[in-house]
Amino acid sequence: MTAKPEKAILRALAGEVLPTPPVWMMRQAGRYLPEYRATRAQAGDFLSLCYNPELAAEVTLQPIRRYGFDAAILFADILLLPQALGPKLWFETGEGPRMETTATAAQVAALRPAEAVHETLSPVCETLRILRRELPPETTLIGFAGMPWTVATYMIAGRGKEEQAAAHRLKAEDRATFQALIDHLTEATVLYLSAQVEAGAEVVKLFDSWAGSLKGQDFADFAVKPAARIISALKARHPGLPVIAFPREAGEGYVGFARATGADCVAVDNSVSPEWAARHVQKDGCVQGNLAPHHLVTGGEALVRETRHVVEAFRNGPHIFNLGHGITPDADPDNVRLMIETLRAA
Ligand code: CP3
Repeated sequence: MTAKPEKAILRALAGEVLPTPPVWMMRQAGRYLPEYRATRAQAGDFLSLCYNPELAAEVTLQPIRRYGFDAAILFADILLLPQALGPKLWFETGEGPRMETTATAAQVAALRPAEAVHETLSPVCETLRILRRELPPETTLIGFAGMPWTVATYMIAGRGKEEQAAAHRLKAEDRATFQALIDHLTEATVLYLSAQVEAGAEVVKLFDSWAGSLKGQDFADFAVKPAARIISALKARHPGLPVIAFPREAGEGYVGFARATGADCVAVDNSVSPEWAARHVQKDGCVQGNLAPHHLVTGGEALVRETRHVVEAFRNGPHIFNLGHGITPDADPDNVRLMIETLRAA
């Protein structure tokens, strides 16, 4: 009954092997672009930009106008969801996010109900509605949320920490509180993403940036299980909704992840080779990735070579070209153009 998708990203997500992979980049609206920096200055600061639908839509569109990417990703942040549940959120210049900590049974119990996300969401949904009107017809609109484990690491530590030690400690020392936090975030994430779809998101992406620090049974319990729950709840509400999952640095955990969670596409970071990912992950469906972001800083022959290498490695299966992680602020905008021209000519 559902018509065959026309947009290149939706075709790849449906399992089609295209002669040229569709392309977008994590953090494609960001500080490497002078027009982003100008709009952010106009908004005042990063969070004001996230909550200003006109300006958030504007920065989402900037990389589409400049490069003609096949997808636009909603401009927002994974930490807006926990902020909606009560904890204060702010960004320290040059250091990244800070949150009021949520690390005790009483603090978890004091979180606002999952339905509170609808309040935060009203500007985010407005951004999506503007984008659906303004995007070119061939561009796919992607919504997103952080996954419960990654969001919990920021809530528990009050900041991003390389080793996620505070979250691992709570998990070990007070399992019930930790599980209650994961369950609450799982429920809120379903409501949040479902509202994004109702506002016009055509695909959703689940960011689990710190999934790689979960090992063994923990990976099954806190990366795979919440993803499976969120994806099945979303697909029950929105039949046919394509979902991209990004359990970053999962390594062996990438194998079978799509089957275990119901994800239509697994995004892989650049700690695994594209040949390995083609053999072990792409055999189950679409893969997104995985050029190392530093090539967009350094450019030149290495960028051309590695772009071709990624395209070649994934050529025999469904593939969406992307980076292994977000583009960095020191990237050269001309290198992005070189990457796109190279992959479209490959
Ligand atoms: O991909 C996109 O461009 C969509 C929008 C988006 C942002 N953050 C915008 C942003 C998305 C999908 C995110 C996800 C996000 N945010 C993650 C998961 C993905 C990942 O990168 O691992 C995480 C862990 C966060 C939390 C967060 N937000 C951090 C750690 C930082 C600071 C890091 C930095 O680069 O300074 C942010 C800020 C942030 N989120 C920026 C952008 C464009 C930079 C803000 C600015 O100063 O303009």
